[in-house]
Amino acid sequence: MRVLVTGGAGYIGSAVLRVLLAEGHEVVVLDNLVTGHRRAVPAAIAFVHADTRDTSTVRQALRDHRVEAVVHLAAISQVGTSVRHPRDYFDNNVRGSLALLDAMLAEGVGRLVFSSTAAVYGDPDTCPIDETAPTRPKSPYGDSKRFVETVLARYGEAYGLQHTSLRYFNAAGAFPDAGEDHRPETHLIPLVLAAAAGKGPPVTLFGEDYPTPDGTCVRDYVHVADLARAHALALAAPAPGAIYTLGSGGGHTVREVLEAAERVTGRPVPVVRGARREGDPATLVASSARIGRELGWAPRAAGLEDILASAWAWLQAAPDGYPD
Ligand code: UFG
Repeated sequence: MRVLVTGGAGYIGSAVLRVLLAEGHEVVVLDNLVTGHRRAVPAAIAFVHADTRDTSTVRQALRDHRVEAVVHLAAISQVGTSVRHPRDYFDNNVRGSLALLDAMLAEGVGRLVFSSTAAVYGDPDTCPIDETAPTRPKSPYGDSKRFVETVLARYGEAYGLQHTSLRYFNAAGAFPDAGEDHRPETHLIPLVLAAAAGKGPPVTLFGEDYPTPDGTCVRDYVHVADLARAHALALAAPAPGAIYTLGSGGGHTVREVLEAAERVTGRPVPVVRGARREGDPATLVASSARIGRELGWAPRAAGLEDILASAWAWLQAAPDGYPD
């Protein structure tokens, strides 16, 4: 299939395009490079430097490359920042998606896989969380993704758009030549590995008084290559409208991540104690039973140490991240 990947220069997008290429798809990347990296996209891949809000350029790209389906990841995705700057989040993530959909409808492209997030759930009533859980986003970021899901449902009914939303839990790990390079970095695993490598400050433990086995938050870390494979499966399955929750099916505390990182790297991870970070729920673990049942998806990464080892290998290969 000829697939446009928006946000293909980002962390998850660059993983998605690698899986799509390996499965024989033709890929075109569209990215505004505000948070993405040009070098995350292999040089041989067609690249359009544009924003999804630029409908005429997106239409041109869809025409030029005779695109049959879109995987839409282009977005800004920092929960905390979104609370302080909601306008940016609604503009980028909502207006950007609406403009992309306008371009797709105008050019007769009727298939979309949408990058959504566990942040649509807010504080869950029960764990593990599946697609039937109520959606109560606690941040403009979560709101923006939830709203686009609503738009997709309505566009499916009205215009026959085929769409699948994938609600990711904590993406982690790397490909040998593509990994996490956020600036600034806020995610636990790259911060832990940078600290182990002596390239970053000690890791601040955001709270040790949560109702969890060791008092630190539990999260469901899923290998980015496994997440990426879910996009390929979703593209292959006709879907008048589907939502899937994607996690590894188990959770780890922050302390468990630190200990596993010490085992994987063979180095100590310096830690300082800190206060709770605002908005962090104690436990977020996904049930991915539905995507397993309907699309045959299951994570292949053996576990947290596998995920950490891949991210550590990427850090060794690219200690300063991407050159641009
Ligand atoms: N943490 C620390 N210290 C740090 C960074 C993180 O203790 O320096 C803790 C956090 O409190 C949390 C865990 O490590 O308990 C994971 O934090 P991340 O920032 O890596 O990830 P989040 O769970 O906060 O966020 C992720 C995605 C979001 C998504 C969210 C949905 O990054 O995009 O999951 O739950 F919205």
